[in-house]
Amino acid sequence: MTVALEGFHAVKHALRFAPSLVRRITVASLPEALALCDALAPDVRDTLLALAVPGSVDHPTGVCGVALRPVEDRSVLSARVAPLVLLDDPRHPGNAGAAIRVAAAAEASGVALLGSLDPWHPSVLRGAAGLHYALPVLSCTLAEVTGPLLALDAGGTPLGSVPDNAVLVVGSERAGVSDEVRWRADRVVSLPMREGVSSLNLATALSAALYAWKLSRSA
Ligand SMILES: C[S@@+](CC[C@H](N)C(=O)[O-])C[C@H]1O[C@@H](n2cnc3c(N)ncnc32)[C@H](O)[C@@H]1O
Repeated sequence: MTVALEGFHAVKHALRFAPSLVRRITVASLPEALALCDALAPDVRDTLLALAVPGSVDHPTGVCGVALRPVEDRSVLSARVAPLVLLDDPRHPGNAGAAIRVAAAAEASGVALLGSLDPWHPSVLRGAAGLHYALPVLSCTLAEVTGPLLALDAGGTPLGSVPDNAVLVVGSERAGVSDEVRWRADRVVSLPMREGVSSLNLATALSAALYAWKLSRSA
């Protein structure tokens, strides 16, 4: 199955993390596409040049592409050396995309979604700038996930240390974390906020928790 890579950044990330899966790159202008590579991503210049075909592109960067979806890696649901992100029924594709983007940046082991949103929906891919190619991204059920589960919730106890093999759950935009997740959670943890602020955006909360883990690890 193939997916559309919309824009230079999505193409760049697919080329960088999974070059063998990129099937086609269309560029409105080859010199301009190569100038973008030179300015932003010289490491992908040669692969882009090898695959690029001039054509009409409906994206302001003048670059788009098509790539195969990677073989699904479900092993992260049960074994990992870096936290797995579990999105509990996200509704907004842009939020799921932003969560995938920060998970890739912080070197999480993968991102799994509970609920009906397709993690490979074009709008999710757009929000993640193609970083689906940097780590496993998949749908799952709660029963499939093993390991210490930390549910992020504004009403929890302050986030302490995050184990390397943690499952970090963030709730949905409106409903927060489900009762099922709360019952299964080893800890329900919060990011303290100023009085009067009710919650953070889910990708923002995830970002803070993932970087708390990453920075404590490098320290
Ligand atoms: C927009 S919030 C959901 C708000 C929802 N009305 C609720 O009652 O939880 C989306 C998710 O971000 C995470 N989150 C937001 N603010 C947080 C905080 N201060 N501490 C921990 N997690 C937070 C939680 O996982 C939450 O379910």
